[in-house]
Amino acid sequence: MKSQNSQRLVSPTAQAIDDASMQRHFGGGRDLLALWIAEPYIEVAPPVAKAMRHRADMDWFGYETRPDALGESFWTWMDARHGWSRGDTRTLVSPSVGTSIGTLIEVVTQPGDGVIIQPPVFTDFKPLVTSGGRNAIRNPLGLSGDGYQFDLDGLESKAIDASTTALILCNPHNPVGRVWTAPELTDIARICARHDVFVIADEIHADLTLEPHRFTPFATVATEADVRWAALHGPIKTFGLAGVCDTLVITDSDDLADRFEAVSSRLHLTRNNVFSLAAAHAAYTEAADWVDDLLELTATNAAMLRDRLPAPVRLIDLQGTYLAWLDLRGLGMEVPELATWLAESARLALSPGHWFGREGAGFARMTVAAPTEQIEDAITRLHHAVDGIVA
Ligand SMILES: Cc1ncc(COP(=O)(O)O)c(C=O)c1O
Repeated sequence: MKSQNSQRLVSPTAQAIDDASMQRHFGGGRDLLALWIAEPYIEVAPPVAKAMRHRADMDWFGYETRPDALGESFWTWMDARHGWSRGDTRTLVSPSVGTSIGTLIEVVTQPGDGVIIQPPVFTDFKPLVTSGGRNAIRNPLGLSGDGYQFDLDGLESKAIDASTTALILCNPHNPVGRVWTAPELTDIARICARHDVFVIADEIHADLTLEPHRFTPFATVATEADVRWAALHGPIKTFGLAGVCDTLVITDSDDLADRFEAVSSRLHLTRNNVFSLAAAHAAYTEAADWVDDLLELTATNAAMLRDRLPAPVRLIDLQGTYLAWLDLRGLGMEVPELATWLAESARLALSPGHWFGREGAGFARMTVAAPTEQIEDAITRLHHAVDGIVA
């Protein structure tokens, strides 16, 4: 990674905040190496930090109307990075991706409806579906020698049910690291169009694809398939700004946009964080090099994992996100035993795979957007722990 700043660890304060949740999830301990949260374990891009300091220096933090400029800088970035332009779409602002998913479920489905998820997948999807009185319909990904695939037959058989009204798509897919291709997304779009299933495309990791993989916006396959959709975006994962920034919802439907805004307004979700715009604008307009460096760091660290993990542990091919999906099934441990072994024997705080659905049992997710020395340290810890089993 070129930038010196990007190689620096998160500040002691951030480490202390992390310590509190580390204690809750892993039993704590100063020597636990934390690589479990889906955010870069490095300092934010210098222009972003500078913009927020500048905003802080204004010494005024009252109500601020949410400006349109967030959408403007986002679309300039999207066009330049991914060749996707605004066209006739509407861009809405929402405090978090979770808020957007919850709101969309409320707007496009009815209580008692089924919403399809494709585990192993991001932990929040299932509770977001079920807490609103909808049923989470599981259509697990398939895993073969070629990696993870959609189960299209399974999808068709679930989508055909009249009470199944939405699907949450994750692209790139947290935690398995797939970047879904245009043909794969077209398959999803066509099945959902055939059965009038609304697609909620969570594309929050869109910028985080590794060569030679390219992000395909669901919007670009949706029009031809004639499927209803909304896509979720924003700077939070790319730039490590989940604690500051708002997120975005893109849709081509005026009716959906109006109904989404009505719920946001009813629940007073429209208030602005004064730092959000400053951070997002600096990120999208001044930090492209920092993201290129982040992707280079991610690729370097993933290659190291691929080549140096102790057998039988192996890395599932990482195409996108900075979240490495480690296959530890060869160790032959049950779910609780593996989680304990990772924390107590390897002294690694990773996200155990079963958090992402039962198909994740035997796997673990490791964030690799971290200084390379930390990934080397993690590999060494895994070697010692595996040696300990064999000895
Ligand atoms: C795919 C995906 N969606 C959503 C989120 C969370 O977004 P938010 O914190 O804005 O709800 C994450 C966080 O890791 C994620 O990986």
